[in-house]
Amino acid sequence: MGVEVSVEGLTKSFGSQNIWRDVTLTLPSGEVSALLGPSGTGKSVFLKTLIGLLHPEQGSVVIDGTDITQCSAKELYEIRKLFGVLFQDGALFGSMSLYDNIAFPLREHTKKKEDDVRKIVMEKIDLVGLAGAEDKLPGEISGGMRKRAGLARALVLDPQIILCDEPDSGLDPVRTAYISQLLIDINAQIDATILIVTHNINIARTIPDNIGMLFRKELVMFGPREQLLTSEQPVVKQFLSGDRFGPIGMSEEKDEAVQKQEEAMQAAGIGGGGTKDDFSEIIPQVQPNPGMPERKAVARHRERVLELLPSLPENAQRAIRESMEQEDQIREESRAHAANTQGVEWSDTDGEAQVGSENVMVDTSTDVIDHGDRNQGGYGNDYAGDDAQTQQWAVPEEAKTQQLESERPEGGRHYGGGS
Ligand SMILES: Nc1ncnc2c1ncn2[C@@H]1O[C@H](COP(=O)(O)OP(=O)(O)OP(=O)(O)O)[C@@H](O)[C@H]1O
Ligand SMILES: [Mg+2]
Repeated sequence: MGVEVSVEGLTKSFGSQNIWRDVTLTLPSGEVSALLGPSGTGKSVFLKTLIGLLHPEQGSVVIDGTDITQCSAKELYEIRKLFGVLFQDGALFGSMSLYDNIAFPLREHTKKKEDDVRKIVMEKIDLVGLAGAEDKLPGEISGGMRKRAGLARALVLDPQIILCDEPDSGLDPVRTAYISQLLIDINAQIDATILIVTHNINIARTIPDNIGMLFRKELVMFGPREQLLTSEQPVVKQFLSGDRFGPIGMSEEKDEAVQKQEEAMQAAGIGGGGTKDDFSEIIPQVQPNPGMPERKAVARHRERVLELLPSLPENAQRAIRESMEQEDQIREESRAHAANTQGVEWSDTDGEAQVGSENVMVDTSTDVIDHGDRNQGGYGNDYAGDDAQTQQWAVPEEAKTQQLESERPEGGRHYGGGS
């Protein structure tokens, strides 16, 4: 079963710039969650904080019983073995072929023979649709291909927690659909806990079990996807519809005068360019492909949500009930389809998860690291002290600058409550 990630009262600043404060949420084990939010609200910073590459001033991130904001470098190294991370910019070593990039975590963190490495790498290359491109250098392929190669590398060790920072950026809509399906299929196969940072509303509508949103330095919401999709909060509605009218401005939040002007324009029939889609009409969640096992998280999610239900707004409750019915129906149809086409009973234990014992993910946050020697440059720099093992985690530039950050401020403000 995937590993729960429990975040409480997390606050992060760079110098005097507070990024977000008092973020409290739990990524439930094996469930797929999405994090939305306007550009610059700190989604990528949040993701890096979850793996201990950035250090919060306050709060905790508990993974498998360990608070990674407080633990030793050695413990952090062990915890990181649970993660597979696709950073926002793909992050490949520029002087290595795609094959070598994707093989990198296997060679670095397992003792697998080259034959076995080859099997796994080629399988993942195939999964992300890069067959035939394995000998190319990152500089010789398109941005979308680099992104897919980064994803293949993130998946190569069957991690228990998968963090994807905008897996769709640079991808066309069809490839985006394939990647989304791939994440659902992987979730079905290995029951990994997944967090997807995205601006893609289609992904948000159809992929995650839960959605959260960051805005104005706070977590506006985190809960079942139906809760956010049916939300009446102006910021959520504006974000989903992609309208320029609303609390989200081009850079910072808008002031009241501008908002009043916009209201007047709207009253005069002038639109803000957003879609008129009705997001409260819930689209069924994407299901694993035929032949995949059922997602084990579905039953856990349902149990959790049913418990939560009375505390949710009425329209969210309605939407949740409707989507549960829809899902039951779809799963019934899938079972019937599987039974018809394969002549076998659809079984919960089909395709049992094959979770590697050494789940290590290595990535960096720069698009292409253009150097041949990984001991000079992004790789090989010690992240936290002298634990040689920790050096096996490639360190983004930002994280390195974080080592220079001053100590945590004493007695900083701690906001109560959660999301
Ligand atoms: N290492 C760093 N040092 C200082 N400031 C940083 C660092 N990393 C991020 N920031 C700042 O934190 C804020 C949030 O950045 P982040 O990259 O997390 O945004 P985001 O929500 O992921 O945006 P986008 O949707 O554009 O990717 C930005 O103002 C950014 O400049
Ligand atoms: Mg980002």
